[in-house]
Amino acid sequence: MGRFSTSIAAVALVTGAASQQFDILRHVGGNGQWFPGPEVTGISSETPEGCTVELAGFFSRHGSRYPDRGAYNGWVDLQTRLQASGNLTTSDPSLAFLSTWSPVLSDPAQQIAQISPTGYKELHAMGATWRLRYAHLYDYNTPFTMWANWYASSPRVRDSARLFAQGFIGPNATTLGTIYALNASDPASWMNSLGTSDLCPAYRDSEGAPYTTVWNEKYRPPIRERLNALVTGFSFTDDDVSSIPYLCGFETQIAGRRSPFCDILTEEEVLAYEYAQDLRYWYGAGLGYDIGKSTMLPVLAGFVQRLVDGPNATYTTSSNTTFVPPKVIANFANDGQINQLIAATGIFDNEPSLSANFSDPDRKFRASRIVTMRGTVAFERLSCPSAAATPPQNQTYTASNSTSPNTYIRLLLNDVVYPVANCADGPGSSCSLAKYQSIVQGKMDAVGDFKKMCNATNPAFETRPVATFFRDDTVEQGIPIKP
Ligand SMILES: *[C@@H]1O[C@H](CO)[C@@H](O)[C@H](O)[C@H]1NC(C)=O
Ligand SMILES: *[C@@H]1O[C@H](CO)[C@@H](O)[C@H](O)[C@H]1NC(C)=O
Ligand SMILES: *[C@@H]1O[C@H](CO)[C@@H](O)[C@H](O)[C@H]1NC(C)=O
Ligand SMILES: *[C@@H]1O[C@H](CO)[C@@H](O)[C@H](O)[C@H]1NC(C)=O
Ligand SMILES: *[C@@H]1O[C@H](CO)[C@@H](O)[C@H](O)[C@H]1NC(C)=O
Ligand SMILES: *[C@@H]1O[C@H](CO)[C@@H](O)[C@H](O)[C@H]1NC(C)=O
Ligand SMILES: *[C@@H]1O[C@H](CO)[C@@H](O)[C@H](O)[C@H]1NC(C)=O
Ligand SMILES: *[C@@H]1O[C@H](CO)[C@@H](O)[C@H](O)[C@H]1NC(C)=O
Ligand SMILES: *[C@@H]1O[C@H](CO)[C@@H](O)[C@H](O)[C@H]1NC(C)=O
Repeated sequence: MGRFSTSIAAVALVTGAASQQFDILRHVGGNGQWFPGPEVTGISSETPEGCTVELAGFFSRHGSRYPDRGAYNGWVDLQTRLQASGNLTTSDPSLAFLSTWSPVLSDPAQQIAQISPTGYKELHAMGATWRLRYAHLYDYNTPFTMWANWYASSPRVRDSARLFAQGFIGPNATTLGTIYALNASDPASWMNSLGTSDLCPAYRDSEGAPYTTVWNEKYRPPIRERLNALVTGFSFTDDDVSSIPYLCGFETQIAGRRSPFCDILTEEEVLAYEYAQDLRYWYGAGLGYDIGKSTMLPVLAGFVQRLVDGPNATYTTSSNTTFVPPKVIANFANDGQINQLIAATGIFDNEPSLSANFSDPDRKFRASRIVTMRGTVAFERLSCPSAAATPPQNQTYTASNSTSPNTYIRLLLNDVVYPVANCADGPGSSCSLAKYQSIVQGKMDAVGDFKKMCNATNPAFETRPVATFFRDDTVEQGIPIKP
């Protein structure tokens, strides 16, 4: 198995034998900083022999960040309760810090919801890594177009795109880069944004309930009881149990040093928390939720069409201008949208539904490997002329002829290749691009009417929309931002 030779895995914290040790920071679901996922699929991330990457693209969550207001208020509440107790005593050295603990933010009023310095580091490194990995797909000192969700609650998504641009383009990023921040609540952006569920009234992220509720009732009380037996003068609640790994993930990246919250729970307890995160995403915004797994399909369909159109495509926009699209197609959004998109890709279509009361150790779906901070689903259009001798079977060719039987698509989650369910017969377990397009079209057909799915009533909304922003830099909902 090989890694991308230019991956920042080269500077990962753990190497060799140490990597066998349990690292809680790799098991805190969406609350951990980025790391290249473990190679659980056994497929090399090097470009398959005989292939070249003709186009690459990604959809990434924003980088590591400070807590949102609600989470921060919870931390302050914990501190208040700890101090009110006044007399917390413990014989367990891992809990002693609690009597004097305070949240790590130095300027909460300004920092809340923003990207943190670990996020700056992740995004600059990501930009440089992508530039090195796909050096042939961007010409030195030329314009570069990207996209971000216009997240109304915080600039962190567009700031992530800006920081990526700085790492990718370099010193001239401000001049050369343009980020179209797509306003997902503008009716003009119906299924044509990076936050499609914003215009979908029926969409409701349950945060995984009732599955998470069942699991929380099962795994948290024994941990609460164990901890309460170790302290006097303070009483942990079930919610405090979930806050411990959450704080471990956040404090570590905010402060740039390991949080003492990382050393409270046992490995087994951490894995139970990790599963709660899997349930949260699977049922809240993913495959366990019919609207969640479908709401990004029109974006995926538009993106796949961009891949099908090929590296040399130029487009006439809705304003009759010419758009020369980038060959590295960079998109930033939030965890919900990244999870929705990954659910649409087909990677997990053969996975059994997650149980509310049993954590299958062999499950493939792990939030910790997917929607970490800066969690990324990446796509490559591969041209593999030498693979033509063994063309994949069952191909259904679509209207466009810019894909040949030698053209494939490969998907990577946090730098690890994950095959598409039922379509992995190309080089390096890739999928024929034409077949992939028909898989996505099949999913669109299964939804049929997106307006009906969303319970949307705007007469201007199409029933079967396909995102156009990848080929049109003049869409009304795009707000240009400079890196
Ligand atoms: C701390 O312990 C002392 C002695 O037991 C007790 O009088 C006091 O009320 C306790 N303080 C708090 C805040 O519980
Ligand atoms: C930035 O762009 C200017 C104008 O094209 C060019 O002279 C300069 O060399 C560029 N800087 C870098 C670092 O390439
Ligand atoms: C996004 O669109 C909504 C609805 O049209 C509008 O109220 C809001 O001002 C827009 N946001 C930005 C940043 O333009
Ligand atoms: C759909 O809209 C109708 C009418 O506004 C409403 O009664 C119903 O609850 C909505 N359904 C969902 C799933 O949001
Ligand atoms: C794109 O254009 C280049 C340069 O003309 C050419 O070598 C390449 O084959 C073209 N790629 C496709 C997929 O048409
Ligand atoms: C674009 O060009 C076509 C054909 O010339 C014309 O019919 C159309 O009105 C133009 N659209 C815009 C937005 O200028
Ligand atoms: C899990 O929950 C289901 C439904 O509530 C129940 O039928 C099943 O017995 C439970 N399994 C375990 C292992 O507790
Ligand atoms: C081809 O289709 C058949 C029937 O749909 C299926 O059983 C088989 O696995 C497919 N083969 C490939 C290589 O996709
Ligand atoms: C695609 O190629 C096939 C076979 O060469 C041809 O029959 C078909 O008309 C072409 N379709 C388009 C849209 O060009």
